[in-house]
Amino acid sequence: MSDDQATKLRRLMHKVRQTRTIAVASGKGGVGKSNIALNLSILLSAAGNRVALVDADLGLANLDVLLDVDVRANLSHVIAGSRKLEDVVVDLPCGVQFVPGASGIAQLANLSEFQRAALLDQLASLETDNDLIVVDCGAGIGRDVLQMVAGSDNALIVANPEPPAITDAYALIKVLKRHGYTGTISLLVNMAGDRQEARATFQRIAGVARQFLDVRVIDAGHVLADQKVRDAVRRRQPFVLEYPRCQASRCLAALANKLCQGSWLVGQKEGFFQRVANWFG
Ligand SMILES: Nc1ncnc2c1ncn2[C@@H]1O[C@H](COP(=O)(O)OP(=O)(O)OP(=O)(O)O)[C@@H](O)[C@H]1O
Ligand SMILES: [Mg+2]
Repeated sequence: MSDDQATKLRRLMHKVRQTRTIAVASGKGGVGKSNIALNLSILLSAAGNRVALVDADLGLANLDVLLDVDVRANLSHVIAGSRKLEDVVVDLPCGVQFVPGASGIAQLANLSEFQRAALLDQLASLETDNDLIVVDCGAGIGRDVLQMVAGSDNALIVANPEPPAITDAYALIKVLKRHGYTGTISLLVNMAGDRQEARATFQRIAGVARQFLDVRVIDAGHVLADQKVRDAVRRRQPFVLEYPRCQASRCLAALANKLCQGSWLVGQKEGFFQRVANWFG
C-alpha cells in the first residue's frame, strides 16, 4: 500500500470510529465514583483503548488527589485564555490522558462566539484523539451534573447497597428521564458485601425504574467492598495498579471486559464538550 493510500485509509477509519463517552454519576456522594472512573479508565487503556479521563467535579475529593499528580491549571484557565489545552492535559504513566477541572466549562458562556468556537475546536481534538472519554461527575442531581451526563451517551450510575444511595440513584434516573436523556443508563453497585447483596440492590433500582419511569437500566455488575481500595486511596495510587489481584480489581476488570466487547456503549452523535457547552447557549 502506498503512503497516500495508507493516509486515506487512516482518515476513513477516523471518520468511521466514534468516540464513546461514559459519565460516571451517582445521586449520593462518596459512593466511589472517582475511584471507579479512574480505575476503569486505566483498565480500558490497558486493553488498548485511547482513554481520556475528565474530572468534572469541583468537590473536595478530586481525582488529582487520588492520582498524586500536581495539577496547577485546569480547563477554566484554558477558557480564561491563560493556558493552552496541551499545558493542562496530563499524560498519566498508565496511558490515560487526564483532563482536570472540566466543571470550569460553565465559563464558556462568558466568551465571545469566536473565542468559544476556537476553544470548542481544541476540545474536539481531544475527543477525536481518544476512543473513550470517561467523565467523573460530582454527586447529586444539580445542573452541573446533569450537563455532564447530558453531554455523554452513556451514564454509568454508581450506588452502594445503603438505602440513601439507592433512593438517590433512583432520583438521578428520574431527573435524567425528565430531561429527555436518550443515552444508555447502566448501574454499578459498589461496596457490595457479596454478590447476592449486589444483585438485590441492582434489582431494586432497576425494578422501580422500569415500573415507574419506563426506563431500562443495564446491569454493569458490582465491585465488592474491599479494604485494599481504602489502602490504595491512602497511598494515592489507583487500586488496579497497586493491588491488581484484589477483589475490587477483579470485579472492575469484569466490567472493563464487558465494555471492551462493545456490549452496550453507544457513540457520540455530537462532541461531548460541544453538547455540554450547548446547555449554556
Ligand atoms: N469498593 C470499595 N471498597 C471499599 N471502600 C471503597 C470502595 N469504593 C470506594 N471506597 C471508599 O470510598 C471513598 C470515597 O470514594 P470516592 O471518592 O471514589 O467517591 P465519590 O463518589 O467520588 O465521592 P464524591 O461524591 O465526594 O465525589 C474512598 O476514599 C474509599 O475509601
Ligand atoms: Mg468523586
